Amino acid sequence: MNSVTVNKVKNLKGIVKISGSKNAAIPILCTSLLASNRVILKNIPRISDVYKLIKILRYLNCNVKFKYDKVIIDNSSVEYKPLTIKECSEIRGSYYLIGVMLYLFNKCEIILPGGCKIGKRPIDAHIDAYKAMGYNVSYENDVLIINADNIPKVFNYKMTKSSVGASINTIIGSLRFNNAVLENLVLEPEALDLIEFLKVLGFKIDALENKCVIKGASLNNNKISYMIISDRMEAMTFIIMGLLCGDIKIKNANINHIRYPLDLLINAKYNIVKEKKYIRAIKSRGEAFSIKTNTYPFFPTDMQPLFGVLLALSRGMCIVEETIFENRLQIYKDINSSGGNINVIGNKAYITGVSELNPNNYTSLDLRHSAALLLLILKFGGTVENLSLLERGYEDFFFKLKLLGANFKLKLKKRL
Ligand code: EPU
Repeated sequence: MNSVTVNKVKNLKGIVKISGSKNAAIPILCTSLLASNRVILKNIPRISDVYKLIKILRYLNCNVKFKYDKVIIDNSSVEYKPLTIKECSEIRGSYYLIGVMLYLFNKCEIILPGGCKIGKRPIDAHIDAYKAMGYNVSYENDVLIINADNIPKVFNYKMTKSSVGASINTIIGSLRFNNAVLENLVLEPEALDLIEFLKVLGFKIDALENKCVIKGASLNNNKISYMIISDRMEAMTFIIMGLLCGDIKIKNANINHIRYPLDLLINAKYNIVKEKKYIRAIKSRGEAFSIKTNTYPFFPTDMQPLFGVLLALSRGMCIVEETIFENRLQIYKDINSSGGNINVIGNKAYITGVSELNPNNYTSLDLRHSAALLLLILKFGGTVENLSLLERGYEDFFFKLKLLGANFKLKLKKRL
C-alpha cells in the first residue's frame, strides 16, 4: 500500500502553480472524438483518471500523445468497440463517452462507471435523459446497452435531478439534434468549459444560467487548440494548506471559480491576500463559520472535507452540513481520533474548534478525503495510507510539496 509520513512538521513557504482541472479535462477529452481534425488540449493534468481515460481513447483506436501538459488527439481512425474494459469501470467520467458513441455510431455498450466511493451515486438521471431522447436502454449484468432505430430532430428536456454529471451527459447526448433546449441543468465552471470547447469544435450551443440551447453544428475543419481551466479544488487545497501551515502563494487559480468559499475565509478573518498574480494564504486561526454543501456558485461538496480540517482548528463552534453525498464525513471521525471535538449526527458535523491535534496514522477512503488527511499530517505529523487515491486528482502533489519545503517520507509499492 502506498503511504506518506510526515515526522518533522515545518512551516511551508513558496509558490505553487495550479494544474488543469480534472473535472473539465475528462468530458473535454471524451468529446475531442467529435472533432473533424486533430485536437491539441493544453493544461491537461497528469493524474491517474486522465491516464485511464487516455487508455480508453487508445482502445477505441485514437492516436493520443501526451507530452508535458499537452494532449494531441487524432481521432481519424476511431472505431466502435464495446466500452467494457476495466478502465471504464474505474473512473466516473467514462460515461461521457455514451453521447460520443451514440453521435458517431448510434450505439453504445458501456460498463457502469466507477469513481470515488462517496455515496450511492446512481445514474438514473443520465438514463432518464437518454430515454427521453428516444434511445432504448437495457442492461446485461453491469453493462449498459443503448441504441436507437430512429431519433427525432428536436429535443426539449428538463433534467429530473440536480446533477453535474447528468447535465454534462445530457449536453453531450443532445449534440446530434438540430434543435435541443435543456433546462434545470447544473452548469458548474467545468461544464461551461466543456461548452466553450464544443463551440470551438463548431457546435452551435448557448448556455445561460441553468439552461442550454443547441442548434446543430457546422464542424470546424481546422486543427483545434484549446486550453482548459485550472482546477479550483486544487487551488483551494493549497490555500487551506497555507492557512494551516505557512505562507503559500497560489498561482494560476481562477479567483472567480472560488469566490464563494474564498469570501467565507476572508470574512472569518483568515489571512488571505489577493495579489495581482497570486492568491496568498498565510498561517492564521480564523473564526468558525458554518457551511452547507450545494451546487455552484455556493459551497462545493469537494471542498467540504478540506474546510472540515480548518474549521476543526478554528475559534468557536460551527456546523458542516453535507447535502450531496452520503459518505463524506469520515474526516471528522479521523480528527476526533486525534483529539478533535466534533459530533457527527446524520449528515451534519457539529464542530467545536481546538488549537492542537495529535499526530496519527490515517487511511484514506477517497480523493478529497486523502487531501484533507494530508493537510492534517502536514500540520501535526503522522501517516496517510492508501495514498494512490490522491493521484486521481492532484498532479505532482509531492513535487509541489517539496518546493514548499515539506519534509516527508513516501513509501510507494506501485507508482503513484
Ligand atoms: N444523483 C442521482 N442520480 C443521478 C446522478 C446523480 O441521484 O443520475 C445524485 C448523486 O448520488 C448525488 C447528487 O445527485 O447525491 C449529485 O451528484 P452529481 O451527479 O452532481 O455528481 P457527479 O457528476 O457524480 C461530479 C464530480 C464529483 C463532484 C460532484 C459534485 C466528476 C467526474 N465528478 O460527480 O467530483 O463531487 O460532481 O460536484 O465530475 C471529485 O472530484 O472528488 C469528485 C467526486
